[in-house]
Amino acid sequence: MTLPWWKTCVAYQIYPRSFCDSNGDGVGDLRGIISKLDYLASLGIGMLWLCPVYASPNDDNGYDISDYEAIQPEFGTLEDWAALRDGLHARGIRLVMDLVANHSSDEHAWFVESRAAKDSDKRDWYIWRPPAADGGPPNDWQSVFGGPAWELDEASGEYYLHLFTRKQPDLNWANPQFRDALFAMMQRWVALGIDGFRMDVINLISKPDGLGQGGNEGGMDRALNGPRLRDYLAEMRHEVFAGTDLVTIGETPGMPLDLAREITDERAPLLDMQFHFEHVDLDHAPGASKWDSTPMTMPALRATLSRWQAGMEAHGWNSLYLGNHDQPRTVSRYGDDVRYRRESAMLLMTLLLTLKGTPFIYQGDEIGMANVAFDSIDDYRDIETLNAWRWLTGERGLDAATALAMIRKKSRDNARTPMQWSAAPNAGFSSAPPWIAPNPDYADHNVAAAEAEPDSVLHYTRRLIALRAQTPALTCGHYRLLDAEHPALWLFERATPSSRCVIALNFSATAQALPAEFGTLSCVLGNTADRAAETLAAWEARILI
Ligand code: GLC
Ligand code: CA
Repeated sequence: MTLPWWKTCVAYQIYPRSFCDSNGDGVGDLRGIISKLDYLASLGIGMLWLCPVYASPNDDNGYDISDYEAIQPEFGTLEDWAALRDGLHARGIRLVMDLVANHSSDEHAWFVESRAAKDSDKRDWYIWRPPAADGGPPNDWQSVFGGPAWELDEASGEYYLHLFTRKQPDLNWANPQFRDALFAMMQRWVALGIDGFRMDVINLISKPDGLGQGGNEGGMDRALNGPRLRDYLAEMRHEVFAGTDLVTIGETPGMPLDLAREITDERAPLLDMQFHFEHVDLDHAPGASKWDSTPMTMPALRATLSRWQAGMEAHGWNSLYLGNHDQPRTVSRYGDDVRYRRESAMLLMTLLLTLKGTPFIYQGDEIGMANVAFDSIDDYRDIETLNAWRWLTGERGLDAATALAMIRKKSRDNARTPMQWSAAPNAGFSSAPPWIAPNPDYADHNVAAAEAEPDSVLHYTRRLIALRAQTPALTCGHYRLLDAEHPALWLFERATPSSRCVIALNFSATAQALPAEFGTLSCVLGNTADRAAETLAAWEARILI
């Protein structure tokens, strides 16, 4: 049985604003990415997920699209995009575009028309409701980024729904003309030679009839995994993807394992794979805001990811990630970015690249980029962070130092500081001051330094990717947890009927004995020099065969 291409490759995610600036305006762009094509190829990746590059007023950095078929001018032109596509394809890297179809920008022509009149033929392409009896919002749903999920349109006296910012009105998937227009747009991208879509919050698209009042999750509980989600995904697959080998990757917060398994079931897939959120929700109490961080333990992470490994084993498929543009930096969150930065970044990369599924490396994680601790809220750019600041220091009544400490831990801007290419000014990202300040640690942590250091996270990442590609057990082998109780060691096996790997990860700063039964195996790759020792050193990772 030959596996589809997207099951055997490693993916890399680019946040274009922060990757590389080619023209000195402080904003990353397509020509910047093109200038790094050989770097991307040198990693050994087979798929690139490009975060949105479409026209956008940038209320949410491109996740508010005003024209799905135009390129954001500060990123370049359609010709630049085509050159990127060709440059990737020439290097054997497939291009996956971001599809943001739960909502558009309020500046999209569809919404402008929808808003223009109650009898506009696009009125029903968005979700409009009259006010509640008291004149307030139609129900109690809350925006993910804070405040009510409804905005009053003065002219018509009606409210529109926006689960994200008020400049991101939710599209109405219940309207068949809208779906036709969306699918036609997607078909045009397919015709342009893309290799798939990563679908933003795709499990929010089916709102229940009548919407209803929210539960304790302020409406998310009602909007997530809605009643017609399967129908819409099936229709989309039929209309856009039938007969192609494109990959479809859902971003699915709050999707339970059984539904994810059903949706990615290879016997009748609606999506090829999906990103779940359970492991990135482990460091705050259930129901609490993400800003109220609590410690995360390795056993909790191990239990969660092992559950998804086992649950998707038979017929589903996992997208694997530890960080992305919405999350704190991987090494700061799951590792030790102070004492064992290099070792723990390597260990986490080992985990990511040895689990079953398609691994997604977020830009900068391959050099162990860490969280930034800006001095002032003025240095932050992300709308979610800025809204949280107002809430924490306002309604919650916290002092500035406390609020800033909370934000430093969880802000999405941790992942959005410029890619650190070198120790040159602005981290080698741009000749001008970037749109968001670089992490001051770039002098020591950058690609140029990592290239020069044989034992860097970067070189280790390349070795891991190469090993994965040539080791069937690491691509298609079953995952089996070998010890569910150990407080510090995560030991698991990946095995096919004819081959086996054991992965041993010491998630602690103290040495841990390797159980004797694995002592006879040989280490094919590890992050320390002494790979034969009977104990694993602090944050040591080994792949044993
Ligand atoms: C997704 C994106 C995030 C964005 C949100 C709204 O979660 O990854 O960056 O803010 O959807 O589009
Ligand atoms: Ca630029």
